[in-house]
Amino acid sequence: MESRPLSEGCPSTDNTVPVGLGPPTRKANAIDVIQHIKDMQRYADRVRSDDHTMAFVPTMGFLHEGHLSLCRIGRERGDVLAASIFVNPAQFGPTEDFDTYPRNLERDLSLLEKEGVDVVFTPTEANLYPEGYQTYVNLTQLPEHLCGLSRPVFFRGVATVVIKLFHIVKPHVAVFGEKDFQQLQVIRRMVADLDMDIEIEGGPIVRESDGLAMSSRNSYLGSEQRPAALSLYRALCAAKDRVGSGETDAAKIIQEATESIGSYPDTDIDYVTVCDPITLDDISRIDDPALMALAVKVGQTRLIDNMILAPPGK
Ligand code: PAJ
Repeated sequence: MESRPLSEGCPSTDNTVPVGLGPPTRKANAIDVIQHIKDMQRYADRVRSDDHTMAFVPTMGFLHEGHLSLCRIGRERGDVLAASIFVNPAQFGPTEDFDTYPRNLERDLSLLEKEGVDVVFTPTEANLYPEGYQTYVNLTQLPEHLCGLSRPVFFRGVATVVIKLFHIVKPHVAVFGEKDFQQLQVIRRMVADLDMDIEIEGGPIVRESDGLAMSSRNSYLGSEQRPAALSLYRALCAAKDRVGSGETDAAKIIQEATESIGSYPDTDIDYVTVCDPITLDDISRIDDPALMALAVKVGQTRLIDNMILAPPGK
């Protein structure tokens, strides 16, 4: 399985950091910014020994309202709210956009501070994947669907970094967005399978006023690509209406969505699927609420979106 090579020859600097309950690496007003693993673990231990609960929102930064909505959910769920910002190389394939992924730490920290986030963990690649790193978490079935088919290392990278972050931040509750529905199910499955004592909470998709699902990658889109980008949401809404008024044939729903998205010149469909929301197995008859999930390249930008399609009365 080929993934983007992790940087080599950059030993972790963690051993050189004092491991007492010392001050965090850096303080930006009311928010603690911690870079080193042991400092974050000490912080988490302190929260737990004070009998406080920790909620956690992992991110790759370049934050938008979707991320911030998860912070608001987290704020309600824990006494202390932690977030992380780390563009995780292990979940990018060798030809994907790791190097160009948008980054703006200062802006992210000020947004998180406004949301009342208490602590932000901002490790480096050398912190999380020091020289000699070789341990990965693999799920056997969920990654065989949807995004996993065209991004073969993606869920291995996500599961690995999330389990590492959980061991470092030690949250009681972690919040993930339904925008990345498959990722949410992968995390839920991993936590259940490995008996991890962490509650996983899903947050609804936050959209732009025209319906486009918010994404850090939307910053790649030119204004001329907007109609094509919007075709995902439009196709999902049309499918939802059709199923809501009694259509049960998944193949028909998929064909209609494929045709309407494909009618835009700049689109290249990766998948259009109707599937079981838990197992992600394809379904052919929609008798119960089903997940419709899409991945489409608009120009060079890969977009994903999804919606639950509910038959009448379900
Ligand atoms: P990232 O893409 O930064 O997303 C961080 C979290 O924000 C994820 O749980 C994602 O589902 C959620 N999110 C993104 N856009 C959203 C939207 N429009 N509405 C609601 N939630 C949204 O997902 C990742 O980072 C990484 O894979 C990560 C889990 C951090 C592991 O590296």
